[in-house]
Amino acid sequence: MEDSERLVTSTISEQENEVENVLRPKSMDGYVGQDKVKDNLAVYMKAAKMRGDALDHVLLYGPAGLGKTTLAHIIASEMGTQIKITSGPAIERSGDLAAILTNLNENDILFIDEIHRLNHNVEEILYPAMEDFTLDFILGKGPSAKNVQLPLPKFTLVGATTRAGMLSSPLRDRFGVICRLECYTTAELREIIERSAKKLGTEIEGSAAEEVAKRSRGTPRIANRLLRRVRDFAIVMGHDKIELSDAKRALEMLEIDEYGLDAIDVKLLKSMAEKFNGGPCGLDTLSATINEDANTIEDVYEPYLLQLGFIARTPRGRVLCQKGYEHIGLKMPASKKAQLSMFGVLEKDDSDEN
Ligand SMILES: Nc1ncnc2c1ncn2[C@@H]1O[C@H](COP(=O)(O)OP(=O)(O)OP(=O)(O)O)[C@@H](O)[C@H]1O
Ligand SMILES: [Mg+2]
Repeated sequence: MEDSERLVTSTISEQENEVENVLRPKSMDGYVGQDKVKDNLAVYMKAAKMRGDALDHVLLYGPAGLGKTTLAHIIASEMGTQIKITSGPAIERSGDLAAILTNLNENDILFIDEIHRLNHNVEEILYPAMEDFTLDFILGKGPSAKNVQLPLPKFTLVGATTRAGMLSSPLRDRFGVICRLECYTTAELREIIERSAKKLGTEIEGSAAEEVAKRSRGTPRIANRLLRRVRDFAIVMGHDKIELSDAKRALEMLEIDEYGLDAIDVKLLKSMAEKFNGGPCGLDTLSATINEDANTIEDVYEPYLLQLGFIARTPRGRVLCQKGYEHIGLKMPASKKAQLSMFGVLEKDDSDEN
């Protein structure tokens, strides 16, 4: 399947990027859900404004498409400051970062996406910049080399990552505010879908929005993608409003099941059951077996399967849980159950009842 046809992917095309910008909420009020993060940020932003100072450095982390970039823009607009945008892989040399830093204005937001991909030399420049707002570098070579320190304007670094675990601890420790974005509830996704429909100039029945929300894997980006596909379907059907039947039929055609899983999720679950006897199996072997990029599995597929309790992580690798077996119509072997409890893996439905 072409990446552009896929609904569950972390890569976005230029065309989609444009649509995302249209659908992106511009203020905290329009940013649905993530109440803990919003409350937390509100306090720090208010304090910074009262001090007349730059906001503390903020780290946003969580799976792809949950609203990190959106939130970075909102922080800048609420603080009434400029935002400069770059990303970990785009900053190749320490000189590139030095140029960015010296061009900042007082209180600016510097947004570094995929901050876990900064290389080590670049990171070293960032430490004194974040901590003391200075640029430290060595001028010249050999015995005449001199340590130079240049003052930088007070700025706020907003870093985003899908992998907080891959951040070095000196870098992580320099963020004053660390926010973890959570998957969205169906009610929140429904609200996002209804707001997006309005922005796209389409009407959608409540039940249809609910249906799309349920199958969006807790992710606004996927909700917006599904909404656009469902809207196309309704247009072809000659409906001027997206009806529940449109949503159901379109989602069926897209092979999105009632949990929001697509063909690749199912392939992953099946391969764990059939080829790895339920695991534990390593990410790389799994990736080779189903022919999917390991990063995509880790950033896009796994978070949701973990959240559903279909799979679990153990120190020895990924394991398939009872609900995962059931979803692909298989029974979990008794020996596997014993093995999972040995790993300390709690079955979600068991723990929910308690
Ligand atoms: N809380 C929210 N309320 C409404 N819409 C949202 C929210 N969060 C995200 N969205 C929508 O989802 C889309 C994707 O969000 P965004 O680009 O901010 O995700 P991200 O976390 O930066 O993803 P990535 O990890 O791929 O960079 C945006 O276009 C935005 O419209
Ligand atoms: Mg982003």
